[in-house]
Amino acid sequence: MKNFIKSKNFTIAVVGATGAVGAEFIELLHFNGVSPDRVRLFASERSAGRSISIGGKSVVIESLKQGCFHGVGVAFFSAGKGISKLWAAQAIAAGAWVVDNSSAFRMDSAVPLVIPEVNANALDVCKGPSIVAVPNCSTIVALVAATPLHRVAKVRRMTVATYQAASGAGAAAMRELELQAKAFVEKTPMRTEIFGRQYLFNCFSHNSAIGPEGYNEEEAKLLYETRKIWSDESVRITATCVRVPVLRAHCEAIGLEFERPLTEVRARELLGAAPGVEVVDDRINNRFPEPLHATGRNPVFVGRIRADWSLPPDMGLQMFVAGDQIRIGAALTGWNIAELIAARI
Ligand SMILES: NC(=O)c1ccc[n+]([C@@H]2O[C@H](COP(=O)([O-])OP(=O)(O)OC[C@H]3O[C@@H](n4cnc5c(N)ncnc54)[C@H](OP(=O)(O)O)[C@@H]3O)[C@@H](O)[C@H]2O)c1
Repeated sequence: MKNFIKSKNFTIAVVGATGAVGAEFIELLHFNGVSPDRVRLFASERSAGRSISIGGKSVVIESLKQGCFHGVGVAFFSAGKGISKLWAAQAIAAGAWVVDNSSAFRMDSAVPLVIPEVNANALDVCKGPSIVAVPNCSTIVALVAATPLHRVAKVRRMTVATYQAASGAGAAAMRELELQAKAFVEKTPMRTEIFGRQYLFNCFSHNSAIGPEGYNEEEAKLLYETRKIWSDESVRITATCVRVPVLRAHCEAIGLEFERPLTEVRARELLGAAPGVEVVDDRINNRFPEPLHATGRNPVFVGRIRADWSLPPDMGLQMFVAGDQIRIGAALTGWNIAELIAARI
């Protein structure tokens, strides 16, 4: 893919620059050779005035103020939905495109919800600077893997069980898991501020609020975001989302039930050729997707590919996926959306 972001000369803002997703955007800016002179970094008042090095050059962190988006071409927002709701409109008014990693606008019918590997054409509704929403990390990891099969066999039902890493809850949750490991070794009391319990050597239901039907918000996002991204209100989805004591990268066990037959062999071919997917499926050596293997890497790794023997032949498939949800599940997908935008401006 051409590096449009580098070649066009607009200023880039990272809102939430000190966070887990913000740090990944900064990594991508450096990796893609964007000059630090074109970058503005924003975080809370707590961080304002500190600086972050991008390729050896210090960039001072600013707080958000009236007029702060003047001259910005693309603003990456990853500072929570409250900040997006407060500031995205100002960025648009200043002439910037907003690529938003929060949940603030995902289900807004006027805002495209985009995974470039899946529905890049959803951007066509944008005729000028607009908000483009990045889906939830679990949705991205699931759909990068499931869409190549859905396009051919049409998924009528999807079951998902997630194994979600600390990083999904931000930089502070990663720090707390590390501190719990240290406290375990040193036999000192564990800090339990983020999840209110011991995370190390434990797993528990995702920490988002549970709705009246008994599904938590993370599980509901998988349903509603998938329907919007696939433009398919009929697809049935059920999920159980769980936090596991992994530092970074989510795993998901995914079951797909098809409307049209698809053999396991053909599914492997489709996944092998799919953008953003890498198949890791070595039954002999028990090598399948693992979070440590996915950490810091771009693809969604897919393995344990097998026909679902609880369904009629060729009508369903089971697989296990791992994806670095700060990267493909957040910043890299945001970056790739910005590449599509940069190609148009
Ligand atoms: N982590 C993931 O895997 C992931 C995946 C997909 C989407 N997301 C979404 O991305 C967003 C950020 O997540 P994260 O994991 O990066 O969180 P995080 O590590 O907790 O970082 C939060 C960031 O927001 C900044 N911030 C907080 N209050 C602010 C304010 N008043 N003004 C400006 N900046 C402020 C923080 O700055 P200070 O350091 O100054 O407090 C920090 O840079 C959330 O909406 C999250 O749902 C996260």
